[in-house]
Amino acid sequence: MKGLQKLILGNWKMNGSLAAVEAYFSSLLSQTFTTRHTIGLAVPFLYQQAAQKYLSHLGWWSGVQDVSQFATAGAYTGEISANMLKDCRTKFALVGHSERRKYFQEDNALIRRKLLRLVECSVQPVLCIGEKWEDSEKGLTESVLKCQLSILEGIELIDLIVAYEPVWAIGSGRIPTLEEIETRAGYIRQRILSRGIEADRMAVLYGGSVNSMNASSITSLPSVEGLLVGGSSLKPQDFVEVIQAV
Ligand code: PGA
Repeated sequence: MKGLQKLILGNWKMNGSLAAVEAYFSSLLSQTFTTRHTIGLAVPFLYQQAAQKYLSHLGWWSGVQDVSQFATAGAYTGEISANMLKDCRTKFALVGHSERRKYFQEDNALIRRKLLRLVECSVQPVLCIGEKWEDSEKGLTESVLKCQLSILEGIELIDLIVAYEPVWAIGSGRIPTLEEIETRAGYIRQRILSRGIEADRMAVLYGGSVNSMNASSITSLPSVEGLLVGGSSLKPQDFVEVIQAV
């Protein structure tokens, strides 16, 4: 994606507290580290405001982990709209994370509506896709990715970030071989390019058990433009080590 070196996004998932936000950023700000990469952090909705003053000071992207499928304000108890995200200066939002697919039965149709809401409000979508272990065992990885990417049909996207996250690699300490990651990321790139999105308006990230030991080799792959980091983004030292390894 134009103007970015590598893009490294953290995902706190349902972790943290107000005290943890303060401790995290005071630790980060006390360290002298520089990076030429673009960094972002998706924290729980409730902590976004607390994190934001630090994120903007660091020049990092402020992100969240989900968005409502509904466009207009109204009687949707518990929901947070893309408009609200825009209002709170949110730069990016994850959609289609495998944990949302698994625990909240999110399907392609729902994920598509969420993606559309983000596009309408100019919040950068980060579409997460990836195969389950059974799919990969059966040689179905590419057809699963193709099906998950089919939600892009007919959407006028300006910029798109897709995170390739094999479900079996998330939080497991296991990652695909570098060759496999390159093949999958290359496949995703080709499919997106074939939809007419220009190469410099898209980025493919890898996610799943990223740490400071594997970050450099993964981001050296030609088709991988960055990382989506879960567990290793929870402690400031770990996240900095990932960033500095890239
Ligand atoms: P992990 O999570 O880095 O802890 O494997 C990645 C993710 O779910 O985005």
